[in-house]
Amino acid sequence: MTPTNTPAEHETSLRRFIGQTAIITGSAKGIGRACALRFAQEGANVACLDVDEQANLATVEACRRYGAQALALRCDVTRMQDVQGAVDATMQQWGRIDVLVTAAGIYTGGLLSEVTLEQWQRVLAVNLTGVFVCNKLIAPLMAGCCGGSIINISSMSGKTSWPGTHEYSASKSGVIGLTHSVAMEMAPYSVTVNAVCPGNTRTELVMQAARQNAPRDGITPEEWLARRANDCPMKRLAEPWEIAGLCAFLASEDARYITGQAIEIDGGMVLS
Ligand SMILES: NC(=O)c1ccc[n+]([C@@H]2O[C@H](COP(=O)([O-])OP(=O)(O)OC[C@H]3O[C@@H](n4cnc5c(N)ncnc54)[C@H](O)[C@@H]3O)[C@@H](O)[C@H]2O)c1
Repeated sequence: MTPTNTPAEHETSLRRFIGQTAIITGSAKGIGRACALRFAQEGANVACLDVDEQANLATVEACRRYGAQALALRCDVTRMQDVQGAVDATMQQWGRIDVLVTAAGIYTGGLLSEVTLEQWQRVLAVNLTGVFVCNKLIAPLMAGCCGGSIINISSMSGKTSWPGTHEYSASKSGVIGLTHSVAMEMAPYSVTVNAVCPGNTRTELVMQAARQNAPRDGITPEEWLARRANDCPMKRLAEPWEIAGLCAFLASEDARYITGQAIEIDGGMVLS
């Protein structure tokens, strides 16, 4: 697809989350799946929330192969009752939630003249309202128990922008604003709240962006991806496990004093 000098899979010998519970949204694929596997490897119980039930079951099976306990929970993050049901099931199973990673997300794009109101509302619903609902329902449980870590997946598009990414950029900037506010409210309760802002990462979502945007530039999706890799100072896309590694760090003891940050993990893209 594009040049890379990193392996597609990554294993760690760290075991920082034994006895803890992590909830991951968007766990069926991409960055969410990589996060579920990372927390499973590191000893956490993992609740996997996604609308894609079949792919989510595969994630859960992969988590169990690391010896972790894992639950597959069908959940549309735009529906408060779905998220509440998943939170209840997780609490019933393990009695605590220590980590939340909100990775469920979608991408659409188009020039201002092309973006429909429905498209705008759908992207905001999944990428921003979905994050709000998860934070709203889970942060108080962490605050009332042992503290915890919330990691909201934003994007480099939340920090900067390009033509044709209106609704996506708006949703991702919104995640950063929400993260700041929840972080301030939760700080006295030892709940850290940070946003992670990935650059182009090798997942289905970025493939969809390639398919959507390539025709506008008169090139193939593969060429579009190669250009995105070339735009990046590190000359490659990110791998999902690299994003998961940052999420695990933010949930670890080493990051207990980091809150309210929106951390770029983009090979230098935003800076460039
Ligand atoms: N891939 C990138 O280049 C990139 C860059 C920056 C930020 N991100 C963000 O990272 C997150 C994960 O993206 P990815 O690249 O892994 O995408 P992906 O398409 O590989 O995975 C997204 C997952 O979210 C799930 N999902 C979609 N709508 C949902 C809903 N309403 N409720 C529950 N689950 C839902 C999908 O079923 C899928 O499993 C997204 O928020 C995305 O915006 C991705």
